[in-house]
Amino acid sequence: MDPLVEIRGCRSRQELQAVVELCDEAFDDTAREYFERHMFKDGTISREDTRVLVRGGKIVSSVQVFPRTIYIGKKKVRMGGIGNVATLPSERKRGYAELVIRDAMEYMRRKGFQVSLLTTTINGYYKRFGFQTLNRQLVKIDVPPRQDQSHTEVFDSSRDAAQVMRLYDNYNAASTGPIVRDADYWRSQIGFCGEDAKLFLVWRDGEEILGYVRGRKETESTKILEYAFADGREEIAHALFADLTFRTERPKVEVFVSRTEKKRLTFLHSGQFEIDTFFMAALVGGGIDDRTMEVILPQSDFTFWLTDYF
Ligand SMILES: CC(C)(COP(=O)(O)OP(=O)(O)OC[C@H]1O[C@@H](n2cnc3c(N)ncnc32)[C@H](O)[C@@H]1OP(=O)(O)O)[C@@H](O)C(=O)NCCC(=O)NCCS
Repeated sequence: MDPLVEIRGCRSRQELQAVVELCDEAFDDTAREYFERHMFKDGTISREDTRVLVRGGKIVSSVQVFPRTIYIGKKKVRMGGIGNVATLPSERKRGYAELVIRDAMEYMRRKGFQVSLLTTTINGYYKRFGFQTLNRQLVKIDVPPRQDQSHTEVFDSSRDAAQVMRLYDNYNAASTGPIVRDADYWRSQIGFCGEDAKLFLVWRDGEEILGYVRGRKETESTKILEYAFADGREEIAHALFADLTFRTERPKVEVFVSRTEKKRLTFLHSGQFEIDTFFMAALVGGGIDDRTMEVILPQSDFTFWLTDYF
């Protein structure tokens, strides 16, 4: 390897800031604010988790490893989320990103991560590191707007957080893919996910919260970022979606669904389904058998909430 090249974790806030600048320059369609948010509002990531290639004293390539745990087939599995893979435009095609990604894979192995996930549109590139595409389904459906003043309210952290966290755990613990969230993770995630707080709605029956939804208003549609509801109460999800489209004034709803979620939300079945290939997964090693990938990959049964994107 070039003796001028060094690959390592970041050592200072200035270096993290340099990675924000690098990502801002590398990604044409993403606002700088996005990188700042994921760099500085995510309290779960350490300096060392931002891996960089330094050449002649300058950071030219970066990869971040977001430390997470996910549910897979009733087990809790350590997962390294790969994000912000970037090389300065003037330094591309010299194998720098490949070196940093290989370092990140080794770093995850050392740290005891068992699987890794990433989102991408250049799936072919990541195959060489062992990543395989997860085929998910994107549903597009019209949900007629309807205000539900009797049950629906905007989420209020001090009043609702404990119940929402419990509902999340109950809804997701038997699925494959969702992040295992503790209170610290929730706090971080509410900061880094960049949602519009007015579009985080809870559905309550008296004091009890029986469902929630988090959404985003897009140019022509409402994107569902996340939801959960009490067992068997699908009508609550429908009411929440309808109240959300009332607030966004965008009746067209887009939501990613796994097989499990498709079974839970039967009202989506009349929508238009597309295959989405944005997600990839790899085994990193350490205490996990190959059958894990058999669980994750072929059955389109991977649930990952957009609020958790890294
Ligand atoms: C993707 C990126 C990190 C690669 O950095 P790099 O240091 O040039 O990477 P490497 O030299 O290791 O590899 C370059 C490879 O990436 C491939 N690549 C880069 N951008 C690509 C694209 N948009 N579509 C398909 N392949 C792409 C190149 O074809 C090349 O493949 P090859 O090795 O078969 O020739 C860099 O192009 C970049 O910063 N892009 C903008 C940000 C981005 O898209 N990041 C990835 C998000 S998942």
